[in-house]
Amino acid sequence: MTVPAEVPPVRAEVGLLALLQENGDLLLDEGLSVARELQLYRFALAEMRTKLAVLQDEITLSDDYNPIEHISARIKTPRSIAEKLRRRGHPLTLESMQANLDDLAGMRVICTFVSDVYRLLKVMDRHPDVAILTVKDYIAAPKPNGYRGLHAIVETPVHLAEASHPVRVEIQFRTIAMDFWASLEHKTYYKYDKTVPDALLRELTEAAEHAHELDLRMEAIHRQIRGGDDRAGG
Ligand code: GTP
Ligand code: MG
Repeated sequence: MTVPAEVPPVRAEVGLLALLQENGDLLLDEGLSVARELQLYRFALAEMRTKLAVLQDEITLSDDYNPIEHISARIKTPRSIAEKLRRRGHPLTLESMQANLDDLAGMRVICTFVSDVYRLLKVMDRHPDVAILTVKDYIAAPKPNGYRGLHAIVETPVHLAEASHPVRVEIQFRTIAMDFWASLEHKTYYKYDKTVPDALLRELTEAAEHAHELDLRMEAIHRQIRGGDDRAGG
């Protein structure tokens, strides 16, 4: 069998290049380089997913308890990259995209309880291949609309045949309740095209507080059950 010296992932790139176009025009300059760069972010997401899956399995085995409900991941679409760069007045180039956007690769880690969010963050902080660059804790300090979640920008190396590249990934940690709320709030904004009636906004903010209260109560019950387990020696 003959192996070509260089095997570029042509099909994936062509697919991405098609996405980079709108009515035949490139959404971003340097389309092919952007497509290549986005591959790197895709690899970074795969790396982070594996790391989190290992941590999840380890905790599940050692504690007989699973701290992660589910994980989703996405690469920012070229359209959304172009829109965000334009909105912030940055050039639509590869260099500008790398320098100005922290959420090209994004993950959502949905946890069972609030304490799981902090536990996972702490464990990731100790990981030799993960550097936590910034943390925005909207659980300790929710947004005025009631939004809660903990956002971390992390950097992880992607090892390719020729070289290793540090890649940034935005990870949003939420509980199921926080995610439930954020998803409804997002839909509301979409439906009203960002002009949501005041009464509805107030209701959403109030619902966010109820969601948080539920989080606290569920965790308290969970602790009671675990305490019961321990006393029973289980
Ligand atoms: P971005 O331009 O969105 O990156 O703003 P930022 O850099 O200030 O980031 P921030 O950490 O505040 O929020 C980033 C992401 O968190 C958003 O793209 C959403 O996915 C999520 N998010 C933040 N605030 C809200 C909110 O009020 N409601 C919902 N549904 N999601 C939010
Ligand atoms: Mg951001």
